[in-house]
Amino acid sequence: MEGINFNQIGVSFKGSGSYVPDQILTNQKISQKVDTSNEWIQSRTGISERRISSVKDNVNEMGYQAALTAIEMANWDINTIDLIILATSTPHDLFGSAPSIQAKLGAANAVAFDLTAACSGFLFALITASKFLKGGSFKRAVVIGADQLSSFVDWNDRRSCILFGDGAGALAIEATNEFDNFIGFDMRTDGGRGSFLNLPSKNKKDSIVDEIDFLSGGFSEIQMNGQEVYKFAVKEVPLILEKLLKKMKYNSDQVDWLLLHQANQRILDSVGERLKIPKEKILSNLEKYGNTSAATIPLMMDEAVRDYRIKQNDIIATSGFGAGLSWGAALIKWG
Ligand code: COA
Repeated sequence: MEGINFNQIGVSFKGSGSYVPDQILTNQKISQKVDTSNEWIQSRTGISERRISSVKDNVNEMGYQAALTAIEMANWDINTIDLIILATSTPHDLFGSAPSIQAKLGAANAVAFDLTAACSGFLFALITASKFLKGGSFKRAVVIGADQLSSFVDWNDRRSCILFGDGAGALAIEATNEFDNFIGFDMRTDGGRGSFLNLPSKNKKDSIVDEIDFLSGGFSEIQMNGQEVYKFAVKEVPLILEKLLKKMKYNSDQVDWLLLHQANQRILDSVGERLKIPKEKILSNLEKYGNTSAATIPLMMDEAVRDYRIKQNDIIATSGFGAGLSWGAALIKWG
């Protein structure tokens, strides 16, 4: 797709969509597998249940369904979409899942690629897409967050398996020359603390012919230092949001909704307290879905748009954070 390059100055939010698999894994059911209880999981995380992909619900399918519903809300002709970015750490194809979604949508004029930044992935993809739009390269973009962490969870590790679930969400965004509803952003990475949360490759040494070895591909299971990740989140997320609000000259009482990556209710409450944002303004659907990685932010946004909590012109402060370690924040106005 060649650049459109007219006088675009801003981004407008036109649609949202989401998809979750049908299978529901409750806390009670997890306690049949590992030594835990509904009471422990709820009090430490706020999670009651999560969705688990079955064979048909891979990242391609979930991402497609989420994108389709976002495009329908935006009421776009499919041929007018220029860009599709899929944020995922669990692609159905390691070479990229976005092209399959593009094909399934029939979005023949869109360039499509994957972006990996774990639980910050959706926010990083949204920022990336907004830059293409504001730069005048493209007019219409679909940003998808989809993950299937259930395939990589260690279902014998009670410290981590209780947290994660599968799902997808998407936003349809458009360049405009009239206003800018993507108010500001910030992003950070600290690879030095990367060992707190990993999904590392697991290679097996083999040989091709005599004296030439190769490593067969594969991945191990999620490895997490929960306490360190928790400390990282409750320290860095308020800091980056405070800095962003200050830079864009906003007070926290001008924020209508705080939409954080859904990792743990205690993290959401702690960040809200630090920013002096009251509980009623903190969006949460952790109870139903747990941590769906790159999907949490658009999944939550879609729910709140569709039940009319998020209204036209509402100010949303959002932050994604997780493995990398990576974290970011954005201030947006819905509509
Ligand atoms: N059920 C019952 N007991 C459990 C348990 C479970 N599912 N998981 C851990 N425990 C036990 C531990 O073994 C430990 O027991 P011990 O004191 O006898 O050793 C005790 O509970 C406390 O463990 P701890 O790890 O200190 O719990 P915690 O309060 O830190 O909660 C997490 C654990 C994982 C819920 C919490 O650290 C967390 O949410 N961290 C952030 C993780 C995250 O969000 N990751 C993704 C980021 S994108």
